[in-house]
Amino acid sequence: MKIPDDVRKDIPLTSEVIYFDSTATSLTPKPVVEAMEEYYLRYRANVHRGVHRLSQIATHRYEESRKVVAEFINAKFEEIVFTRNTSESLNLVALGLEHIFRPGDKIVTTPYEHHSDLLPWQRLAKRKGLKLEFIEGDDEGNLDLGDAERKIRGARLVAVQHVSNALGVIHEVEELGKLAEEEGAIFVVDAAQSAGHMEVDVKKLHADFLAFSGHKGPMGPTGIGVLYISEEFFEAFEPPLIGGGTIEDVSLDDYKLTEPPERFEAGTPNIGGAIGLAAGIRYIQRIGLDKIEEQEHKLVKRITEGLDELEIPWYGPRDLKKHAGVVSFNVPPLHPHDVAAILDEHNIMVRSGHHCALPVMKKLGINGTVRASFHVYNSVEEVETFLGVMEELVKSLRG
Ligand SMILES: Cc1ncc(COP(=O)(O)O)c(C=O)c1O
Repeated sequence: MKIPDDVRKDIPLTSEVIYFDSTATSLTPKPVVEAMEEYYLRYRANVHRGVHRLSQIATHRYEESRKVVAEFINAKFEEIVFTRNTSESLNLVALGLEHIFRPGDKIVTTPYEHHSDLLPWQRLAKRKGLKLEFIEGDDEGNLDLGDAERKIRGARLVAVQHVSNALGVIHEVEELGKLAEEEGAIFVVDAAQSAGHMEVDVKKLHADFLAFSGHKGPMGPTGIGVLYISEEFFEAFEPPLIGGGTIEDVSLDDYKLTEPPERFEAGTPNIGGAIGLAAGIRYIQRIGLDKIEEQEHKLVKRITEGLDELEIPWYGPRDLKKHAGVVSFNVPPLHPHDVAAILDEHNIMVRSGHHCALPVMKKLGINGTVRASFHVYNSVEEVETFLGVMEELVKSLRG
């Protein structure tokens, strides 16, 4: 596949706008839409409970999608639970493990987490009288691994993001996972910004739980997410939602839960979403994660060089090996929303604000950033266009 041209041909929107907002949600390639269309138009039915032909096909395709996801992150088939998104997956982890915590237990995370990997732990800590500690790090988002080692000592659970959606920093998740494992702590990974952009391997990361969304890196639809639950936790993890599909037997006053993964998926799932997600993953695999990383690295290198030339401050690690395809910046004295609105007038879509990472903004002493984020369909020419607009903007500001 020629990168990015062949991918762009599969995504009509790339010829209409410059889309630099893939961290929020990715554009959708045609094969994903076609896979979902096929489900809705050709074999639309509910899964698991039907004997009829359509239900059999739908069940087969739904479970086949689970297999695609499992292989994608090097997990077992039964360890994959479909959810709505990363936020739901992480909330489920906190709720499903709540019963194992005792007052005084320690949870360790970082100051760079998305709210979805912070609030569930804050609430759990309040409810159960737990200690919540944060691994120190600098303003670029680099973690102090010495402090990580100290804080993880004696921890019951460690939760970290793989990649920051606000700063673009790639965290040393593998090392942190090893530290957690040595301490016997549960290791939870928020892979919302890494899955589909770089290798995510639950074994290499030593993950006990891992969450990601279908609509971001994997280029799938919205409304479908993944929760990986290591089989070691099949008994300890209490499904927060139970009911249809989760049982082996029920009487009027009791029930017996069925085996995973059904045990953890109450009610009718997002069947079309799971099928679309699998199509997205297959699409990503056809391109190759190495090609995706290479393209995003090229874009990050050019945009950061260009911003430096224009003396526009940008955030995240200066060491670009640690910088994923997410670049946050500011154009003082303009508010980030005003910059985003100006870019929109030039047909360039970027995000602005606190990016659901208010503690990061507070640490940096800013109210928000403008964020340009990439996927493999973005081109260096688009970055040049963006830099041209920025050049005009700073000229008009600085006179
Ligand atoms: C690092 C990180 N975690 C969690 C989330 C939440 O993802 P979702 O909105 O799909 O639940 C996001 C979304 O941007 C994210 O960037």
